[in-house]
Amino acid sequence: MSLEKEIQRRRTFAIIAHPDAGKTTLTEKLLLFGGAIQVAGAVKSNKIKKTATSDFMEIEKQRGISVATSVMGFEYKGLKINILDTPGHQDFAEDTYRTLTAVDSVIVVIDVAKGVEPQTEKLVQVCRMRETPIIVFINKLDRVGKDAFDLLDEVEEKLGLHVLPLTWPIGMGKDFKGVYNLYQRGLVLYEPNSKMSNKVEITNLQDPIVNKLLYRQADTLREEVDLITGVYEPLNVSEYQAGALSPVFFGSAVNNFGVAELLDCFAEIAPCPKSTATAERVVAPNEERFSGFVFKIHANMDPKHRDRIAFMRVNSGVFLRGNPYLHVRSGKRLRFANPTAFMADKKDVVDEAFPGDIVGLHDTGTFVIGDTLTDGEMLHFKGMPSFSPELFKYVENGDPMKSKQLWKGVDQLMDEGVAQLFTTSSGRKVIGTVGQLQFEVIEYRLKHEYGATCIWEPLSMYKACWITSDYPAKLVEFKRLNAQYMATDKHGRDVYLANSEFRLQMERKNFSEVNFHFTSEF
Ligand code: G4P
Repeated sequence: MSLEKEIQRRRTFAIIAHPDAGKTTLTEKLLLFGGAIQVAGAVKSNKIKKTATSDFMEIEKQRGISVATSVMGFEYKGLKINILDTPGHQDFAEDTYRTLTAVDSVIVVIDVAKGVEPQTEKLVQVCRMRETPIIVFINKLDRVGKDAFDLLDEVEEKLGLHVLPLTWPIGMGKDFKGVYNLYQRGLVLYEPNSKMSNKVEITNLQDPIVNKLLYRQADTLREEVDLITGVYEPLNVSEYQAGALSPVFFGSAVNNFGVAELLDCFAEIAPCPKSTATAERVVAPNEERFSGFVFKIHANMDPKHRDRIAFMRVNSGVFLRGNPYLHVRSGKRLRFANPTAFMADKKDVVDEAFPGDIVGLHDTGTFVIGDTLTDGEMLHFKGMPSFSPELFKYVENGDPMKSKQLWKGVDQLMDEGVAQLFTTSSGRKVIGTVGQLQFEVIEYRLKHEYGATCIWEPLSMYKACWITSDYPAKLVEFKRLNAQYMATDKHGRDVYLANSEFRLQMERKNFSEVNFHFTSEF
């Protein structure tokens, strides 16, 4: 198959949600409908298996959250679909932000009873910044929740999305009868736990059969559908693909309901890989020459081996096993004897991969997040920012015999993107995170993977921001006056550790010539 055809059939996306909205359940049902797994429970039981065999994953077991991000690929109607899983816990939001740089579209899951939750807001904001096309799935219709019209308003208001319902719910909770498919015209009747939806094709909602099937809910449905068709324009796929219009589906993932409609529509309209910006130029997926970037580094689950897997997204050309590729940051050529591809519940060695595919590369400490690989061209993919951390602690060595191990471990964990390291003007090391849990992960991993003990010392700070200025004298003055709050990041760039929101605002006012950056990419 030609490169162009391979690109056209790729759909790489992530499911995002506030924890408990049903992301894992929906992922599993999509795999089930796609024929990639045969039994429900496979996604979760896979997690449990890993937990049982690895120390590190004890954290996951204890806390019941998914610390890791993984990839599940499957074939569906001639398409190669790659689902990138994202950690549910908000303390790992940064991991999720990075995963979002490696997808071409997303599905947002919302709990019908809870509506738009804070984590959903943050994640959708990142998608909107990147103009990522979004489909919304409103889940748990088998329970009583918010009114569907109110929910659409909430999604528009809180998420800033321009929505278009493509299915419409008929009742909810005990009265949930199914959905009306506005896109393909037809009733889909709800039967809990049935893998197949019971579809009734109807060309006209006035058909008496609708009364027979829905009784008193038939008239409500007709009124609501009238209202919807009066308010909303038909689906414009280009608008969706430009990130300007979000189709909405209703269903119940745990009951296999509404998932087939979602998957079929997704397969039809979701975008294939697009061009990507680098610092040097825009790279089109159908260029012959290979390029890709690392968006995630995953620690080996076996504490005896410190090797890691770097997750690379192919952006252009064909990635071939065994070929020497340029690791742009180091200038070295690297060969990968056993690159892996991820298929549903297993991973396999792969000989070639195409744009949109995610390849797992065996890494002994070469990669850092955001690294670019090419077949020779000096390119640097953009859009892998670190966000301003909001929690800080001094990190000190707790075991004088293991100082080397500690700092090596800290360095490698930072390369993986677990947190950010700053060195203050007095030479102390500060670790900044977006969530408390990351400190525990770092401590745990330093102990189990590096045999090192770290001691945390509290540090009350509000935010870290990168500072630059076109006026060198002003920058020097700012740094002099704020010497005790100054630090450098891993790359030696100036970072201001503001101890309060008030202080930050004041300094921004006092030093209007200094730029304060809240992501590391500026
Ligand atoms: P997450 O990955 O977004 O965190 O959510 P997950 O899929 O784990 O789902 C969270 C809970 O919501 C699970 O219940 C799941 O069974 C339930 N759920 C998912 N979809 C639906 C739905 O359509 N209707 C209803 N009523 N519940 C749904 P749990 O009790 O936490 O776990 P489990 O014991 O059922 O696995």
